[in-house]
Amino acid sequence: MKSLGWFLFVAHLLPNVSSIFIPPITYNPSTQKPLRTYTSKFTSYLSDPGLDGWLEREEQIAVQRLIANLAPIGRNAEDAAPGAVIASPSRGQPGQPNYYYQWVRDGSITASTIVDLYRDDPSSDLSSDLVTFLDAFTTISHRLQHTDNPSGSFDNLKGLGEPKFMADGSPYTESWGRPQRDGPALRAITLMQYLRAYNETHPEVWSSMEGEDWFDRLYYPSMPANSTIKADLEYVSHSWRESGFDLWEEVQGKHFFTAMVQLRALQEGAELARLFGDKGAAKWYQKQADKLKGFMHLFWDDTKGHLVETLTSDRSGLDCGLLLGAIHGTGKHSSPYPPHSDEVLVSLLGLVNDQRDRFPINSSPGNQRTKNASEELHGVGVGRYPEDVYDGISTDGGNPWFLCTCTVAETLYRTSSYLTSSASLNISNTSLPFYRALLPRHRDDLQLGVANEIVYNAAVKRLKEIGDEFLDVVKIHTDAEGALSEQFDAVTGFERGARDLTWSYGAFLQAVRARKRLLA
Ligand code: NOJ
Ligand code: NOJ
Repeated sequence: MKSLGWFLFVAHLLPNVSSIFIPPITYNPSTQKPLRTYTSKFTSYLSDPGLDGWLEREEQIAVQRLIANLAPIGRNAEDAAPGAVIASPSRGQPGQPNYYYQWVRDGSITASTIVDLYRDDPSSDLSSDLVTFLDAFTTISHRLQHTDNPSGSFDNLKGLGEPKFMADGSPYTESWGRPQRDGPALRAITLMQYLRAYNETHPEVWSSMEGEDWFDRLYYPSMPANSTIKADLEYVSHSWRESGFDLWEEVQGKHFFTAMVQLRALQEGAELARLFGDKGAAKWYQKQADKLKGFMHLFWDDTKGHLVETLTSDRSGLDCGLLLGAIHGTGKHSSPYPPHSDEVLVSLLGLVNDQRDRFPINSSPGNQRTKNASEELHGVGVGRYPEDVYDGISTDGGNPWFLCTCTVAETLYRTSSYLTSSASLNISNTSLPFYRALLPRHRDDLQLGVANEIVYNAAVKRLKEIGDEFLDVVKIHTDAEGALSEQFDAVTGFERGARDLTWSYGAFLQAVRARKRLLA
């Protein structure tokens, strides 16, 4: 930056030099890149740490900047109620949306990332802050459940479908896409994960007096449900058949993401209920899980050859919510669509191909695409879904999102891990297009059925390499401080929309975690 500034300064003093040396800047959207890409290329000889080095540094930054958005421990959330996760510190300043609220979805997904961090090293100083947050998150979850709001109240449980609250915990009363039925499921999944993690690290608490209180707040068999996890499970088990707004808060209907996380919550809820001796509930949650599972096949569209995010919608159905649903909806129980499943992978391919051709920053100048190249899977910036017009503030056109680009990387890493652990690759009619795009050089060896060793090894390796290409795109568009906003501009590549989006950091950290598992 300094050197470029110096050059321009000198050029300014010598008008003739400037007219000779500075070519007119012609606007060409397909080659327009952020200026810092050039400057970082310029300085890169000295300091580009490569992807590994950058990931290591960015991981620290992401943890710090994510924590900054959590009350009561974070500097950006000082006037938020303890336990609140603010979606972003943007409060509607010029050029910024107002995201200074707590969304049940963003909050639960973030708290789950925090549980993972806590688990990494439960006795660290960081972890004592994390437990402070997680205990406060547990308390505020109970409070939000009991707060009357435009979706309803606690008495009939309808209030649990409310998607967002003010930072101080009071209800948000303006019009909004409500209810959103993924929230209670995600919150139950996260609180169950916390309950298990805490029990592992504090085994003595289970049988102590204070322990009874600790666990009772989270799960207690009595009805009407008052403990937080049980209330969410009651909500999910009684309402999964009903439609609601999708994770992007725009369309009413039945959604893949929502159904996947509901299914996981019910499966894990049945197991937890059994552990707490709540036999009737265990049976009921299991029965609902089985029914919901039987309905999941409706999200596969045979004609389109991919999953669809929303049933009977005008949209294509390709959506980053499919990948998020596969990731957040898959735990230790059997999942109909885990991240490595044929249906998810071929949907990933469809989404990535669409986004590659849609956004100018995704076309690589100097590397003209041949017909074959367009059939190969490569890292690009990925947004929410093809028809998206939300630009982060208004609706002038969609852009790639950090969290979606990271989620594609995570899906590929997880698939590579899965192939390693299962020690074989079975190529089906459904997944063939994906493996063709992944392994263009092995096209002639790709056949239906169990892959030979060469193809298998190449797949394990390429999944990691292409995952890295997606994180490379994230690297290129991350600003000099390592801050991640919601989106990056489809034309200029610069960050845009809400700044320091909590979920962007969470999705990045999760992708890095999946990558480390691969390298371990
Ligand atoms: C805000 C929502 O959170 C976002 O998902 C949506 O795309 C925009 N409003 C535009 O409706
Ligand atoms: C808009 C996104 O569409 C939605 O999923 C999210 O909950 C909110 N922003 C807050 O981050």
